[in-house]
Amino acid sequence: MSIAEILETMEYGPAPESDKEARDWIRSLGAETKLFIGGAWRRAKSGASFEPTAPATGEVLAKIAHGGTADVDAAVKAAAKAAPAWKALSGHQRARYLYALARLIQRHSRLFAVVETLDNGKPIRESRDIDIPLVARHFYHHAGWAQLMDSELADREPIGVCGQIIPWNFPLLMLAWKVAPAIALGNTVVLKPAEYTSLTALLFAEMCQKAGLPDGVVNIVTGDGATGEAIVRHPEIDKIAFTGSTEVGRIIREATAGSGKSLTLELGGKSPFIVFDDADLDAAVEGVVDAIWFNQGQVCCAGSRLLVQEGIHDRFVAKLLARMEKLRVGNPLDKAIDMGAIVHPVQLQRIRELVDLGVEEGATMHQPAARLPEKGCFYPPTLLTGAHPASTIARVEIFGPVAVATTFRTPAEAVELANNTEYGLAASVWSETLSLALDIAPKLKCGVVWVNGTNMFDAGVGFGGYKESGFGREGGREGLAAYSRPKRTTKAVPLRPEPQPALAGDAIGSASIDRTAKLYIGGKQTRPDGGYSRPVLTPAGAVVGEVGEGNRKDIRNAVEAARKAAGWSGASEHNRAQILYYIAENLDARASEFAERLSAMTGKRKQDSAREVAASVSRLFSYGAWADKFEGAVHRPPIRGVALAMNEAVGILGIACPESPGLLGFVSTFAPAIATGNRVVVIPSARYALAATDFYQVFETSDLPDGVVNIVTGDRDALAAELAKHEEVDGVWYFGPAEAAGRMEKASAGNLKQVWAETVERDWFNPTVGEGREFLARATQVKNIWIPYGE
Ligand code: NAI
Repeated sequence: MSIAEILETMEYGPAPESDKEARDWIRSLGAETKLFIGGAWRRAKSGASFEPTAPATGEVLAKIAHGGTADVDAAVKAAAKAAPAWKALSGHQRARYLYALARLIQRHSRLFAVVETLDNGKPIRESRDIDIPLVARHFYHHAGWAQLMDSELADREPIGVCGQIIPWNFPLLMLAWKVAPAIALGNTVVLKPAEYTSLTALLFAEMCQKAGLPDGVVNIVTGDGATGEAIVRHPEIDKIAFTGSTEVGRIIREATAGSGKSLTLELGGKSPFIVFDDADLDAAVEGVVDAIWFNQGQVCCAGSRLLVQEGIHDRFVAKLLARMEKLRVGNPLDKAIDMGAIVHPVQLQRIRELVDLGVEEGATMHQPAARLPEKGCFYPPTLLTGAHPASTIARVEIFGPVAVATTFRTPAEAVELANNTEYGLAASVWSETLSLALDIAPKLKCGVVWVNGTNMFDAGVGFGGYKESGFGREGGREGLAAYSRPKRTTKAVPLRPEPQPALAGDAIGSASIDRTAKLYIGGKQTRPDGGYSRPVLTPAGAVVGEVGEGNRKDIRNAVEAARKAAGWSGASEHNRAQILYYIAENLDARASEFAERLSAMTGKRKQDSAREVAASVSRLFSYGAWADKFEGAVHRPPIRGVALAMNEAVGILGIACPESPGLLGFVSTFAPAIATGNRVVVIPSARYALAATDFYQVFETSDLPDGVVNIVTGDRDALAAELAKHEEVDGVWYFGPAEAAGRMEKASAGNLKQVWAETVERDWFNPTVGEGREFLARATQVKNIWIPYGE
């Protein structure tokens, strides 16, 4: 081609990156790779291995050791052995190791990038300019948290041994997201890379050796799902962090239920990319390129659902189709390539099948004319238009370079369509009217919103999902919660089932039974569906009163009432604060009546009960105070712009109160939940249930909107299990014995709601332990809204 012709077509010539050093390094691994356990390289005990193929060429780059149960066990033992000394280091000492790792990654960044591209098939431009720089940034950022841990997280400590299971779409980046915060805060780790992409994890292990990281702090066990399962089930692992499919996330939730392991899940998505008619359409077209064709669309937060305002749909699609023609698909080592290879033939097959199904279901498929390379696992950038929002391709995660476009008319309809998914990871909003975009962002049920942008990430900005996209955050201050726990819980006494007094004959207590307290649903006192009641007894077994025996139907009604009270989540913080103060004032006005009732149920002296009532009033004041002070943050990621970290209510929370103290335990749990905008269904202490039922009148005189607090009395654990199962409940708090807490965790797997199971004693009377940020953080989830500036 002559220079004149080149200038005419503006075609790029091939610009391949050399893979010589990467292949030399892969050869240095030997005939078969080893596992990195306790600072040493070991063969898999079984001698088994597997041979993943390079996506772009189909060749076997290396034979990978298949770690089995015995290897996982050895790795966990090594991690457990290393844990005490690693935890005992000062934050500064740990910071130096993380800093050394960051520097080593930067020094070897080209090698990392080329190995990643060979192994995963992603374009070298992406691994070189996005993945590896973000990895280094993650270690720098968390070196900082190690340094600051003693001052900034003084009341928290590491959890222990962390099992970490990662996917293949961003192999080294996902490793960094997991390893950096874990070891920064003093945990040790056993990490399993995905079976298709093990190599950069092994190169990272070499960096750990070079950095002189103490043996056993980081252990890498390569293998498949069975290896992952061995990690999940290992009894000496204290925490599991998983990124991958929602299907496996659900299996892991069930497998860890009741084990005492803490869990964070970062799962799939079907993220909306919303284009309003006043958007800069050319910028939005580039946005789509980044949203769905970045990393061949194998991105959990890919903008895979294009929602385009009706009036601009045809124009937008025309522009997009023209842009698609220009995308270059091919050898990922070529620096001029936009899209590389799909990770594995299995994934390619899945993409093909889903697209075929989309066409069968009535969508129109658009693909560029350019031919794909003959060899390797390639799939063209694809747009499906005319798909019905309920069709399979509009709902399921395709995890490939396939965007599905539909239209909307009004902003309200855009929000409705955007939220019409079981996922809730991310969203992009495109509009030149910032007030519109910023009005939409909080209405989207997802963990990350990009305004006029997409797929932006930073170590200082938390990332993670709502709903079935998982729970927990990675990055940012909020991500630290996943790798630390309150110091007080370590030595706390486990909660045991509280003995209930037995009914003494048909004795009637000092307070006569004038009526049975009903349930409190949607602001009304309602009879229990089953028509039964249960007595509340004095310690000697005399009847103090009766409360309704709630059942599954009552729980369903209560959740429905909570759903209808959605306005509370949008009420102003000032408004919520005021109502908490009213509740406090009205409780205070009836303090002696409540104290008497408590004494009747507990047998305690009146002044002790008065102390509990006074503590409850004070607690309500505290959450009235917090309601307008639990603020988010403004992050300054390395872009021109900001990311707003907003604390949003979880939604509908089911709360099984601590069994005692009856009144203070009730107040201490519902108050932080409603202060932050949740609506709640509360199961009060069974033994002291009258403390909660007496509260109905307090609520009724406090302007609390109907349905914000709903109370169902009865068998606490059975009712809590109904809440844990309920698909419309977004989170469950359970304060009680470990065995029952495990049942709640298991029941929660259906919609992957977050469960806060506290199974140890807490001094509810002590405000530094019984109230504050820990509760507020559990009642909220952080949404990060990225707002880039500039022309
Ligand atoms: P996967 O969820 O099976 O694999 C992710 C990781 O989990 C791998 O390391 C795998 O070895 C491990 N694993 C598999 N079964 C396990 C088990 N029972 N216990 C513990 N660990 C286990 O994902 P896969 O099969 O690679 O991809 C299937 C689909 O999942 C994709 O098409 C995509 O839709 C989704 N996916 C989503 C990801 C995300 O980032 N959200 C990442 C990878 C896949």
